[in-house]
This record gives sequence, structure tokens and C-alpha cells, in this order.
Amino acid sequence: MISEPGKPISETVPAAEQSAPEREMWGSRLGFVLAAVGSAVGLGNMWRFPYLAAESGGAAFVILYVVMLLFIGVPILLAELAIGRSARLSPIGALKKNGGKGWAPLGLLFVASGFLILSYYSVIAGWTVRYSIDALIGGFPADPSARFDEISSGAGALGFHLLFMLITIGIVMGGIKKGIERASIILMPLLALILLGIAVWAMTLEGCREGYSFYLRPSLENLLDPVVMARAGGQAFFSLSLGMGAMLTYASYLSRKEDVNGEACMIAGADFGIAFVAGLALFPIIAALGLFGDVGESTIGALFIVLPKAFAAMGAVGRVVGILFFVALLVGALTSALSLLEVVTASVMDELKLSRRKAALIMGGAVTLLDVLPALSLSSLGIMDQLAGDLFLVFGALLMAVFVGWRMKGAADELAAGTRPFFKKLLPLWVFLVRFVIPPVLLIVLYNSVRAAMAALGIGGAE
Ligand code: TRP
Repeated sequence: MISEPGKPISETVPAAEQSAPEREMWGSRLGFVLAAVGSAVGLGNMWRFPYLAAESGGAAFVILYVVMLLFIGVPILLAELAIGRSARLSPIGALKKNGGKGWAPLGLLFVASGFLILSYYSVIAGWTVRYSIDALIGGFPADPSARFDEISSGAGALGFHLLFMLITIGIVMGGIKKGIERASIILMPLLALILLGIAVWAMTLEGCREGYSFYLRPSLENLLDPVVMARAGGQAFFSLSLGMGAMLTYASYLSRKEDVNGEACMIAGADFGIAFVAGLALFPIIAALGLFGDVGESTIGALFIVLPKAFAAMGAVGRVVGILFFVALLVGALTSALSLLEVVTASVMDELKLSRRKAALIMGGAVTLLDVLPALSLSSLGIMDQLAGDLFLVFGALLMAVFVGWRMKGAADELAAGTRPFFKKLLPLWVFLVRFVIPPVLLIVLYNSVRAAMAALGIGGAE
């Protein structure tokens, strides 16, 4: 059921086959790309990537990451785009339509992942709101560690996370074009500008060379280290928000005129660019204050404790830069949360035939209720992160690759619609990758994650 490239969907698909004739559409190509980049860019870019690079091989990690992005991340992204755009339905319906009823549970798993991830992601986002507002009013605390303990759980955490959820629900209720697209078009350039600005400013800091070398000093033996490879691969697809149907759902609002291959390259490029620049912005700051020793602990610790410490020590300039940084972090979290809630909302809309407003309100409200758990207990947040982030997503991506590679008919044709000759030539490579390369690689990543999760649970689960 491939339409001719260049013709709007409504002209080429008989009305009866259109799953929902009134289905919303993106207003522009740029709007879709920015919304997808918004989903992809989040805490994973602003800290997880630079941190992993510094820890596992510097420039060698960056090279491995780009390779993984090209051979694993982008192909799975294309798989999601092909499934979503061809079915024009959210995950459950799209998998059923392209592969039969037996695949519906996978769609349900995606919805569950979205639900679970959003419920702790929004708690972390709530801290970000709190930090931004606090810094605006009173500057950064002298003892961020005590401050973090104070605000990271309990009533305060609940309140700020509620505020964040209200904004998220409000935007998703606004719809694809008027809600998510509009927000992304305003917010994503803002985020990029802030990070670039901080990176340029960081070049003037005394510790900048030291910072860059902490971040990027190549340790070439890591290029062949399987653990580092698996880490780079895991990060590539976590960073692109793959494995739970977020990109699939966004693609369901695309027309076939669009060249999804080109768009996938833009999304992956922007996502990588922002992650790379984040490292250039942050390490000189940490180096200038000699705080490398504090970085090692955990992702969250570094973001909410080490960086505020550095900002506090830098006086007025640190305050301005710090506020900007936390605003950028908040923007990243918000645009990612939009895609998480959209998966859940669109699924309820398609499957239960509810209106967008009702679906977003009910599901957003349900997520907000579940949030009470991670907002009150940090260790449950850590467990949810491992369960969803490491296990559900990898498993989801694995099955998605198997789905497009072996089950769905015409996935490659779907990608060929509306594309350039250059990408058409690469399609056989894509088919080869999703059939023979990606499933075994993800199986190895999954095996490692299961082992790590079991070890973590054994010692209490918290990070
Ligand atoms: N990509 C996000 C980041 O880099 C995190 C993420 C993973 C995500 N899976 C997702 C966001 C699904 C939205 C939807 O921080």
C-alpha cells in the first residue's frame, strides 16, 4: 500500500483504508524534525553522553558512538519511522496493521514504557524547575549536596513535578500542530543557542584545556573494548528515544511526500551535535574549579550537585550561566516528556476512540499519580530507570528490528517513498542491518543490562 511519492496521502489511499481520516498532521517538515529532536534531546545529551565519553575513552568513545549511531541508531529510527508513517496509527494499531494481532502486546509494552519513563522523568524535571527558580531568586546554594537531599523527595519534589506535568499535559492537549510542534519550534532553537553560548563562554575559562582533555583525551585501546562498544550502542539508541514507539508515533503524523531518510539523518545529527557541545560547555567549568574528583559518583549527582557547586563558586557570572544551563535542561526534559505523553495519549485516542483532550488529561493525570512513588523515594526512581531505560527500551528496539526485518511487508518500500536516489541505494544495507546485525547486537546489550539490573537489585536498586 505504497502511495506515489509526491501525492498527498488523501489522494492515493482510498478513504476506507485511512485509519482516521481526520488524523492530525505536522504543519511543516521543520516542525516534525524539531519535535523529534526535542524528544531525542534530554538528560541523555546534556550529561549522560559527556560523562560516558569522559569515562570510557574520550575521543575514542565519540568515534565509536558515531559508528553505533550510523549502524544501529539511525536504522532503528528508520524502522520506527517506516512503521508509524505507513500505518498512520499509534504503536498498538500500527503493529497490528503491519504485522497482525499477535504484535499488539509489543505496542502495549511501548505504552507501558512511556508511562513508566514519564513518571520518573517528570520527577527529575521537577527538580530542574526547582533549581531554575531557586537560582533566579537566591542564587545557587553553597552546599548543593544538602540542598539536593532536601528538595529531591518529599512534598517539594511532588509540587514541582506537578507543575511540570501540568505544562506537559497542557501542551499535548493543544495537539500536534498547535501544541507539540509550536512548542518545539520555539524551544529547540533556544536550547541550542544557550548551549552554544555556554560552550563559547567556556572557551575563555582558565581550565578549558584541562576540561577538554578530561572529556576527549583519546584512549585508543577502548576502540576495541566490547564493554565500551555496548555502552556506545546503548547510549546511541537511548539518546534517540528509540524502543518505545515515540518516533513511531511522531511519524504517524507525517505525509508520504516527506523524505524520512533525510529527516532521520537530521535528527541523529542534531542529537549528536547537542550532546557533543554539552560536553564542550560543561567540562571546562568543572575543570576551572578543580571538581573532577566529584564527577564520578552518578549521573544525577553530577548534574544536581557538582555543577551547582561550580556555578555557586563562580559568583554572578556563574549564576547567570547556571540559570541558563538549568533552563536548557528543563527545555530538554519538557520536549522529551511531550513525546512520552504523546505515545500514551495517541494510543488511548486510537484504541479507545477518546478525544485528544480527554486522553491527555486522563493519562497525564494517571502518570502524575504514579509519580508519587519516585517523588517520595529516590531508590524507586533508580529502579524504574533501570527497568524501563535499560530493559524495556532495548527489548522494544530488538523486537522492532525483528518486526521490520522479518515480519512487516514493504518497510523498505515505505522508506523509498519520497526519498533521494542516494538513500535508495542504501536501502539494501538497511535491510541487511535490521535483519542480521541489529538483533544479535541488541541481544548482547540486553543480556548485559539484565545482569546489571539483577546486580543492582541485589544491592538495593538505587543508583
Ligand atoms: N532521549 C532522551 C534523552 O536523551 C531520553 C529518552 C529515552 C526518551 N527514551 C525516550 C525521551 C523516549 C522520550 C521518549 O534524554
